[in-house]
Amino acid sequence: MITTFEQYKEEYKKSVENPEAFWDTIAKQFTWKQPWTKTLDWNFEGPDVKWFIHGKFNITENAIDRHLPAKANQTAFIWEPNAVDGTNRVITYQNLHDEVCKLANTLKSLNVKKGDRVCIYMPMIPEAVFAMLACARIGAVHSVVFAGFSSSALAGRIQDSDCKVVLTTDGAYRGVKDIPIKTVVDEALETCASVEKVVIYKHTNTPITINSERDVIWQDVVPQASSICEAELMDSEDILFILYTSGSTGKPKGVVHTCGGYMVYTCYTFQNVFQMNLNTTSKDLFWCTADVGWITGHSYIAYGPLLAGASSVIFEGVPTFPDAGRFWKVIDKYQVTHFYTAPTAIRALEAVGLDFVKPYKLDSLKVLGSVGEPINEEAWQWYHKNIGKEKCPIVDTWWQTETGGILISALAGVTPTKPSFATLPMPGVQPLLVDEKGNEISGNNVEGNLCIKFPWPSMIRTTYGDHDRCKKEYFSTYPGLYFTGDGCRRDENGFYRITGRVDDVMNISGHRIGTAEVESAINTHNDVVESAVVGYPHDIKGQGIYAYVIVPSTTKDHDILRKEIIAEVNKIIGPIAKPDKIQIVSGLPKTRSGKIMRRILRKVAEGDVSNLGDTSTLLDPGIVDEIVKGKL
Ligand code: PRX
Repeated sequence: MITTFEQYKEEYKKSVENPEAFWDTIAKQFTWKQPWTKTLDWNFEGPDVKWFIHGKFNITENAIDRHLPAKANQTAFIWEPNAVDGTNRVITYQNLHDEVCKLANTLKSLNVKKGDRVCIYMPMIPEAVFAMLACARIGAVHSVVFAGFSSSALAGRIQDSDCKVVLTTDGAYRGVKDIPIKTVVDEALETCASVEKVVIYKHTNTPITINSERDVIWQDVVPQASSICEAELMDSEDILFILYTSGSTGKPKGVVHTCGGYMVYTCYTFQNVFQMNLNTTSKDLFWCTADVGWITGHSYIAYGPLLAGASSVIFEGVPTFPDAGRFWKVIDKYQVTHFYTAPTAIRALEAVGLDFVKPYKLDSLKVLGSVGEPINEEAWQWYHKNIGKEKCPIVDTWWQTETGGILISALAGVTPTKPSFATLPMPGVQPLLVDEKGNEISGNNVEGNLCIKFPWPSMIRTTYGDHDRCKKEYFSTYPGLYFTGDGCRRDENGFYRITGRVDDVMNISGHRIGTAEVESAINTHNDVVESAVVGYPHDIKGQGIYAYVIVPSTTKDHDILRKEIIAEVNKIIGPIAKPDKIQIVSGLPKTRSGKIMRRILRKVAEGDVSNLGDTSTLLDPGIVDEIVKGKL
């Protein structure tokens, strides 16, 4: 582990001068059944990236079995239920081993084989992590879908990767809500012919309909299965999982991560960024508040902490239930030392005032983390002062679903921090800024589009079933470079500050949503002729969704229409994508070639109408005045 700033600089230098030797040393710390023959083979034209070539191993042996001699009775997870007076659960590494193996054997008995895709649509309970690891144990590819997505969004993801089995629950608790998860799955499966079996973990006892040919109750089969399951031998470049994420065009794409590089990189970054004491006698406890349905949950709830042998909290609920002090209460209750959350949660908890923080000591905390969106300076200072009591370094970790692990971040207590700056690249990561034409912008105190010029082990390998899309989205804008889609500033000290997306992707409460996806959901409403969606600054969510919608002048009351449009978006994507503002318009600003001028729509939504640029070349310049006048 890197423990001084000087050492970081040395390691960084080594990692750039000889990346293969650098990663070789790190990868050797894991248990491999067969060593790799070549460390790296790559080109960004394909793209074709392979790490630890021909290495054979299983990630679960590294995440679980490897720790058993010393840590069998150590906590892997403490689960805090949604209900504040509910019973918590402690899962030791031995328990984790047994549960994962039992489920793995159950999946085998349901005819799941290496390479088969398994969809996991579950709330935040330990079984969701068991499910991911059970798939990995037998070489099945997991595709976790966030349990807040609608049945049609779930169906699209299941169809895209032809999942054979779905793992789910009867219901989910989120704050005061009791969500009938199984009903959503039933609806989705009406259009998913590939699914042979559904395994349902009974969690809420919500009544469910059973399809006797297809449905299996988890508790009826898993406890009886053997707790020994030999791990499938996997190649470094075998697929570990698919995770769907939004892009600037079309429907969500399945980002593919492979076993070897993902293992090495998530563990390395977890250890170095968070700097936990991982000795057997250590009381350090990690808590990442993300959902397992997102990449943060994959890399820093499931794989990273387990690979490193850490103890973590899994929380089922929401930060504001039963009140806005819940996070702080849980930190005191379990003496959490390392806390990793999203700026949107920090802003929401800041907004309700310090009365919810004051009852708690928070003196166990050593390190704070932030992820998912830019953290504004005010939220950073509030977090630093009121939660970290000015003694906990804040690691602002920049990364993406596609990057698999953290790429730019401070190392807690080791490298400098600066409010609202992700700061410096991890060893092995070679960022660069480019201008619109793809020319490198060198030197400091500059701003441009953020690219990465050299592969790192946990980078995206392909988009499932459509390699060309992977090439187009990430490797074609600036040939020879991985393009992140983010804008970025590099300050006088070479620290990086991510300024936000420069493409048509919005970041709503840290959730990535494509404008095209929301538009196509809105357009399914019968009265909608056309729509255009943009993000706008939102105090709590970071960005809100602003929709401009054309409807024929004869249609119904606009308030009713707005409600119906929101219902449509809920149905097609899920509540996370519902527009915050819907402005009904008679037209959209388009160029003569029919392209929507989003720049104008963005400015109006932001409330900045002072400089809309030259609108005279538009097909109908008058429409801009109408839009400005009608701004919500
Ligand atoms: O715009 C960046 C923003 O979130 C995007 C990636 O979203 P997703 O794939 O859902 O992964 C989120 C969790 C890793 C990025 O392109 N983003 C993420 N972390 C930060 C950030 N923006 C600024 N600062 C961050 N720390």
